[in-house]
Amino acid sequence: MSRKIIKSKTYLYDEKIETIAEVPEKELELLPLNKDLKIIGKKIPRVDAEEKVTGTAVYTFDKSFTNIAYGKTLRSPHPFAKIESIDTSKAEKLKGVLKILTYKNAPDIGWYGSYSKLLDQTVRYEGDEVAFIVAETEAIAEKAMSLIDVKYKELDFVTDTLEAIKDNAPKIYEDSNIPKTRGHAHYSRGNFEEGIKNADVVIERDYTTQVAIHNPTEPHGSVVKWEDDQLIVWDSTQGVFSIRDTIANSLNMPESKVRVIKEYMGGGFGAKLEAGKYSVMAAIASKEIKRPVKVILDRKAMNLAVGNRPDSHQKIKAGAKKDGTLTAMGLTNYGTMGAYPAGAGAHWPLRSLYKCDNIETNEYRVFTNTGRARPFRAPGHVQGTFALESILDDLAEKIDMDPLEFRIKNFTPIDQDSKRPYTSKKLIEAYKMGAKAINWESRKPAGASDGIVKRGLGFASQIWWGGGSPPAYATVKMNRDGSVQVLCGTQDLGTGTYTIISQITAEVLEIPIDTIDVLIGDTQATPYAPSSGGSTTAPSISPAVYDAALQMKAKLIASASAVLDIPGKELTYSNGKIFETKNESNSITNPKLIRKMRERVLIATGARNQNTDKYAINTFGVQFADVEVNTLTGKVKVNKIVAAHDIGRTLNRLTLENQFHGGIIMGLSFALMDERVIDEYTGKVLTTNYHDYKMPTIKETPEIEVIIVSENDPLVSATGVKGIGEPAMIPTPGAIANAVYNAIGVRINSLPITPDKILTALNSRG
Ligand code: MOS
Repeated sequence: MSRKIIKSKTYLYDEKIETIAEVPEKELELLPLNKDLKIIGKKIPRVDAEEKVTGTAVYTFDKSFTNIAYGKTLRSPHPFAKIESIDTSKAEKLKGVLKILTYKNAPDIGWYGSYSKLLDQTVRYEGDEVAFIVAETEAIAEKAMSLIDVKYKELDFVTDTLEAIKDNAPKIYEDSNIPKTRGHAHYSRGNFEEGIKNADVVIERDYTTQVAIHNPTEPHGSVVKWEDDQLIVWDSTQGVFSIRDTIANSLNMPESKVRVIKEYMGGGFGAKLEAGKYSVMAAIASKEIKRPVKVILDRKAMNLAVGNRPDSHQKIKAGAKKDGTLTAMGLTNYGTMGAYPAGAGAHWPLRSLYKCDNIETNEYRVFTNTGRARPFRAPGHVQGTFALESILDDLAEKIDMDPLEFRIKNFTPIDQDSKRPYTSKKLIEAYKMGAKAINWESRKPAGASDGIVKRGLGFASQIWWGGGSPPAYATVKMNRDGSVQVLCGTQDLGTGTYTIISQITAEVLEIPIDTIDVLIGDTQATPYAPSSGGSTTAPSISPAVYDAALQMKAKLIASASAVLDIPGKELTYSNGKIFETKNESNSITNPKLIRKMRERVLIATGARNQNTDKYAINTFGVQFADVEVNTLTGKVKVNKIVAAHDIGRTLNRLTLENQFHGGIIMGLSFALMDERVIDEYTGKVLTTNYHDYKMPTIKETPEIEVIIVSENDPLVSATGVKGIGEPAMIPTPGAIANAVYNAIGVRINSLPITPDKILTALNSRG
């Protein structure tokens, strides 16, 4: 039970994140492999499936109170403007309007660092916040919005990334649209020029990827309610503690006075990691009108104002020897942050996925008058992997080598920056099993497929982090009836956190899964767990839950020893019962034991272990695509995706497959459909609903086969679990792009691969 305080290191991008955490004093006993377990690893249906399909699961939208009021945000119709005047008097007179906030009366709260305010007098993209209206109904709030008289002084704007870097482009802030601080990131190892000189073949190409919108099923939103001086916020969020801290900080309140609760959730994909202005504006208005306020964004706002995957404009130069050795790779990339600071890089896969001694990358983050980027399912890796895997296929072709053999030739068992070996990297095994499942041997040379509809095979690999880290804690409570409640400050984005927590607890304590209640996503009721980002939820919390369950079991055995007067080591715990090993009839059940102890609730706590510093912790995988391209219509149909990954232990085969399906469909969308389109003359977004913003339906969904080549990763934690949310999507677009090339023999270097691009490319070749 004893703990120690350590400095824990974890890695994400260039950051070596150091935190102080409480971890178990001794390493926990390793969880046995899945084949020796009853519940973990199996296809266990979601414990909340019934609530979800019957509609009784309470999402933020469903949270209500009798006296609730509704909030709506008035957003800028212009891409760049200064508000000259704003007159709310007519709107305020409308019956049912309760409160209107504008830059004139809102508290002066900084936002996006010092780049903006909660409500700013300058608006920098279509969708930027202008006013917040609270009314008796949503309809009244809508009507009030139309009565607010705003005089804008429109400013010259720029929405295109490459236009924005030109000298004569309108500037969003004072000087350059590439900010002086953190606008440029440089990385190098070895000697790039030397590596290019030593190459037998060199290829240089440009790749572009589009801005994509997260569009989770459930929109962003909050319900806020004051209880005396305490603020309760029900929020659709990936990180209750992080939201709590931002809201408390914005309102200048102690964290303890803000309680953030997240129950059910319909996806986030990175767009719900940070607090929204709407939560803070709702809290300010709510306090004043002394009523709870609900604010749920509509689909248009979702498409304008809550983040996106930044575009990329990548120039890659790569060289290889005839024997397949990669000698050098260089990348220059421009990506737009939108109007406020955000990440926009893409170089990591090129830097880390394959062995290459000479690397040089230069990346630029560009301000434009567009909605700000946010992290989006494997930020940078999806766009970077597409470009990297495209050029590597071209290199392989040039040296007349099978692209799979080329990747195997450049396999690295160590992280090339830190020189540490990986805890696990079963990528070669994944290549072999994936190739077999897609029938790689049947692949023809590029463009060799006959007929109007041409078939092609391609693949791409994946690297990501996803090992998780402390601090992450869980508490297990056992009641007198033997039922259990598990508390953990994590969240379930729809991925199955409730289910995996139940499974681990049921496995260790050998009690029925339906006697376990899971309470997560409540800053006041649960011990701390980190935000759900970076594919770290299961790897961070599963060891903590496992530890807490083991502690509970140890406590039960020790208590039984006292009650039965038998030394602990002569006792056996099995199926919620403790008995004398040599005389099974001398036994006591958990409920009887707790009663005998005169307790009503037994409590045990668990903590996630410290990460190893001797190894690099990453996930790896490969996806193969089987596609058809209709050369008359230019339409791409994906027949099948095979995903073969090393992602540690599978906790639940069913939710694992769900996550892979979701990631692959999202990757397919990025490859072929997704695209935020902006009219360059007006600076307005043309794709703000599910009709205009193209996403796949079941009709575009291919057959998907998921192969997991790893049994666990014991060097990460006692559960050996790593994350899959992001790995599931990273290689899909690259695999599809390479398969399209294999089908038609012409490269499309720009995503999404839409029919017009295919037809243009085919025509240009004659
Ligand atoms: Mo993710 S983009 O870390 O939610």
